[in-house]
Amino acid sequence: MSEVKLLGTGSSVPEKIVTNDDLAGLVETNDEWIRTRTGICRRHIVTKETLTSMSVEASRRALEAAGIEPMDLDMIIVATLTPDEPLPNASSAVQKALGAHRAFCFDLSAACSGFVYAMGCAAMYIKGGAARHVLVIGAEVLSKIVDWHDRKTCILFGDGAGAAVFGSASQPGFLGMDMGTDGWRGNTLTMFERDMDNPFMTEAQKNAVNMESDEACKIRPRSRYVYMDGPEVFKFAVKQVPDSIHKLLDAQGLSVADIDHFVLHQANYRIIESVAKRLKVSLDKFIITIDEYGNTSAASVPLALDELMRSGRVRPGDRLMISGFGGGLTWGSVLWQIQDND
Ligand code: UT7
Repeated sequence: MSEVKLLGTGSSVPEKIVTNDDLAGLVETNDEWIRTRTGICRRHIVTKETLTSMSVEASRRALEAAGIEPMDLDMIIVATLTPDEPLPNASSAVQKALGAHRAFCFDLSAACSGFVYAMGCAAMYIKGGAARHVLVIGAEVLSKIVDWHDRKTCILFGDGAGAAVFGSASQPGFLGMDMGTDGWRGNTLTMFERDMDNPFMTEAQKNAVNMESDEACKIRPRSRYVYMDGPEVFKFAVKQVPDSIHKLLDAQGLSVADIDHFVLHQANYRIIESVAKRLKVSLDKFIITIDEYGNTSAASVPLALDELMRSGRVRPGDRLMISGFGGGLTWGSVLWQIQDND
């Protein structure tokens, strides 16, 4: 069975920067509230880019860092909840733009855990011998599903894309993973896309399916925009992420002291601070990008990973703990070791 290593990373964000002061002109908020409650100073929002264009740019950078060509790719996964269109999927559009003729492609939906789940998939395909080179992308255009009149959510999110290329290797880079989902708490982070409607349904059936019988409507609005019970998701994250990290480390016979870098989903600076405290690890070991990009859901982990990999802080032998969490509710952690030849 083959081992798996990280070959290269890349990222791409929209040119347009939206500051907290810009948002204070839209909703009743202010720079101080946003900075102190979330750690966000600005975010990048699409004005001319698309999910595909950012994904392709991030991928080209990751391929260049990996030193391989698009034709070397066997598989492309795009983790996203905001594809440009549902059909064709985002990964097929990326394949076409890159000219990655040999790759098979699919999208993966697991909200802010999406990139971490996709990394797990890539590792399993490579280990199983079904693929040698896999391109994994996390990308979002959250600005199209955000209610720009809702101060509780619109200040949080940003757009962007990050990518990573994984390949088969003789030395183990991928050490293990821990994934989990709690569908019973799914109502804390939601968005409706479209009502059920076909010519064979009566009006009563449509109402029953789409409105009255929906238990969820009793506890959260039926919105086509992102709805989040922020405090509930916050509580979930600060408990679940350390639990997942401990579980993964225990399974590997390692401790938090053995980890050199923590790359967490960037949802809130205070969540990262709280996780560091619960793990009893210095915050210096955590990469922070939320100040610049806000919460970019599936793109946040690869954007942070790319920043870390290009920072010069990662040395051969270093261990990386990468954790995502969010809608579903979902969570996942993946443990990597950087090999000499990585
Ligand atoms: O990526 C997926 C995972 N997502 C997360 O992990 C997000 C987790 N949650 C959070 O990060 C935080 O809960 C938020 C940043 C979303 C909210 O922070 P909070 O400290 O939990 O604030 P809150 O929702 O409890 O609101 C506190 C107060 C409220 O006012 P009252 O009721 O105390 O008078 C809000 O109306 O702050 C008010 N508020 C605002 N004030 C100014 C809420 N949003 C704003 C705002 N500007 N933008």
